[in-house]
Amino acid sequence: MRTVYWHQQHVRMIDQRRIPWELALVDLHDVEAVADSIRDMTVRGAPAIGATAAFGMALAAQNSKAQTVPELLGELGKAADLLKASRPTAVNLAWAVDKLMASANGSDFATPDEVRAALLNAAQQIADDDVDINQRMGKVGSVLINEQDTVLHHCNTGALATVDYGTAIGVIRSAFEQGKQFHVLLDETRPRLQGARLSAWEMEQLGVPYDIIPDTAAGFYMRRGEIKLVLLGADRIAANGDFANKIGTYQVAVLAKENGIPFYTVAPTSTVDLSLATGDDIPIEERDKSEVLAPFGNAIAPAHFNARNPAFDVTPAHYLSGIVTENGIVRPPFEVNLRRAVMGEQV
Ligand code: MRU
Repeated sequence: MRTVYWHQQHVRMIDQRRIPWELALVDLHDVEAVADSIRDMTVRGAPAIGATAAFGMALAAQNSKAQTVPELLGELGKAADLLKASRPTAVNLAWAVDKLMASANGSDFATPDEVRAALLNAAQQIADDDVDINQRMGKVGSVLINEQDTVLHHCNTGALATVDYGTAIGVIRSAFEQGKQFHVLLDETRPRLQGARLSAWEMEQLGVPYDIIPDTAAGFYMRRGEIKLVLLGADRIAANGDFANKIGTYQVAVLAKENGIPFYTVAPTSTVDLSLATGDDIPIEERDKSEVLAPFGNAIAPAHFNARNPAFDVTPAHYLSGIVTENGIVRPPFEVNLRRAVMGEQV
């Protein structure tokens, strides 16, 4: 089942807040509800929120009562701003919205209905391409996993974080489908527990052997020599290879380098933001302190206690062994080779 899709003139998605306890679907009938679903993390993961935003634009076009093309384009501009503001870090969101705006503006459409049809097509294409790209990345990256390895993974980068198949978990899945035998350690990923809830649920479905570990145990297993490889995702990669990903990624990177363990991010080229020279300018979302003090409503400290909750961190490129993309594994110098991959060259 896809994470998000167009269903009978509206957007349907898996409610990721309820997994692993329940596989529930939610139906969204207007662009405001789509923006809310991204903000409250009903849907999350960079490629998944990109595809969701694309369907949100198609929904805004469909719901609009505009009688003329310029009127519709004006309304779409507002929908684009609303969607882009829903979460700031993952560039896939702005990338998808800009792509939809470009297809609305690109041709000389005679009627609003032509624009509506073009936007639904473009959104569907983004969703279909995502699945195809993930399968390609999975195959490309699968060479990194050796028999009997233990692989450390952070957050959730599987089917749920994408339209289907996954990025870093797509690599794990591809290697597993090839018959390789290995083990996965899943960082639980405080405070929203994407590792313990979502990645473990996916491992259960795929049959991949795994253990959930506390985030604080990664260094312990690295120093004991158990972890042979780190694979995780990215929300935005700057032109020099610095990248933002789920909070906790930076400390995993530093520990991996200290212990001589290969460390890779797996991301489609739509996650690369060549407009940013380095990771210093990537906007980092700070979420509500209640997620730290009472994860999923279970209080671990009184609600009036102080807390901070950055959702992402930035890892400098020099910690990366490589970046797995649909166009190959990008190696240093990232300034040169990342640009080539983004331009569609096989690297
Ligand atoms: O806050 P989230 O759950 O949206 O964060 C997700 C991540 O950081 C993922 O690692 C990233 O989006 C890549 S998903 C293929």
